Amino acid sequence: MSGTSIYLDNAATSFPKPACVYDAMDRYHRESGAAVGRGAYRQAVEVQGEVDRCRQRLAQLLNAENPQRIIFTFNCTDSLNLAIHGVLRDGDHVITSVLEHNSVLRPLHELERDGKIQLTLISVDQAGVVNPEDFRQALRPSTRLIVLTHASNVTGAIQPCAPVGQIARAAGVLYLVDAAQTAGHLPLDVRALSADMVACPGHKGLLGPLGTGLLYLRPGLEHELRSVRQGGTGTRSEDEFQPATLPDKYEPGNHNAPGLIGLSAALKWRMEQPQGALQAHEQAMLEHLLDGLHAIPGVEIHGPQTATGRVGVVSVSVADQDPQIVATLLDQVAQVQVRSGLHCAPGAHRSLGTMERGGTVRLSVGAFTTLSELDRALEAFRQIAEIL
Ligand SMILES: Cc1ncc(COP(=O)(O)O)c(C=O)c1O
Repeated sequence: MSGTSIYLDNAATSFPKPACVYDAMDRYHRESGAAVGRGAYRQAVEVQGEVDRCRQRLAQLLNAENPQRIIFTFNCTDSLNLAIHGVLRDGDHVITSVLEHNSVLRPLHELERDGKIQLTLISVDQAGVVNPEDFRQALRPSTRLIVLTHASNVTGAIQPCAPVGQIARAAGVLYLVDAAQTAGHLPLDVRALSADMVACPGHKGLLGPLGTGLLYLRPGLEHELRSVRQGGTGTRSEDEFQPATLPDKYEPGNHNAPGLIGLSAALKWRMEQPQGALQAHEQAMLEHLLDGLHAIPGVEIHGPQTATGRVGVVSVSVADQDPQIVATLLDQVAQVQVRSGLHCAPGAHRSLGTMERGGTVRLSVGAFTTLSELDRALEAFRQIAEIL
């Protein structure tokens, strides 16, 4: 990888990570290598301790009731699948939005195709935001679950998750929030969202390594959420069945110990930063990026036009050019790394009208994006827009 590359694909996974993440993972690989919860020797106990700390840090960050409410998974897709397949039963009705990522839409569409559930998709307004009232209107006696993304991974538009949560709670319907694009970017309080379950990747805004994710479970939800995988937990091995206790019920098999050690280091690093500094930095980068893009003739920004009501994920079109060509040129001209295409969220493109032209070019800032990187990327964008 070249040292002069400009990484603007933080919505896919964040890069770089804080240096302490690499150090912690390297130390684990070289000096320990032990599995979590499986041994009484020193290294195994130490690894278990670090994974416990990781859970505690996440519970604190998300305002969860206690660390046992945090279930480790392997990515946000894994968290969403556990939540969806774990709570739904034959005959249930589910409400979600057209904005959702395929990690929500595909499990739901498969269940619908198999005749197991009925599905209602809520559309968005001109600004790419859902109206909470539409969720209330869509409720049926058989509605069991509402799923909503906290922010679109295409336009960055923040969705009214707390009001939708209040509607779900009042109706006695379970509520799952997909916080893939907000965890680590916005203050995230699972209780203020009235959420029963919140799915987060560990490897995007939380700055942990790939292969990490989590699902927050509201107290008592373990009685409604089945485990979707069963196996060894290193506890109660004499039992024929999966333990009912948390987190073992949902964490069979070996953990991604190096990943969780890296995530724990990232969370510690995050807690050492001045209060609000990371969010303020990303907001400043986002404003600079939006200002620069607005000034380039032929570039159309989709979704919120200013830095208000959005996260640092910006989708653009350059005239009616194929986004793939723009992304390839950005890499070739100035080693700017962006995403092009549908970003696994086809419904968002249908509502934006960008489906036919192959989606959008997506630029996403992160904790380590700098103004000078953005200036170089914007200059490359300017040159490419002029040529095209
Ligand atoms: C909104 C949204 N949900 C879910 C996911 C899936 O996350 P992961 O890559 O951790 O499986 C993504 C990934 O980009 C996303 O943007």
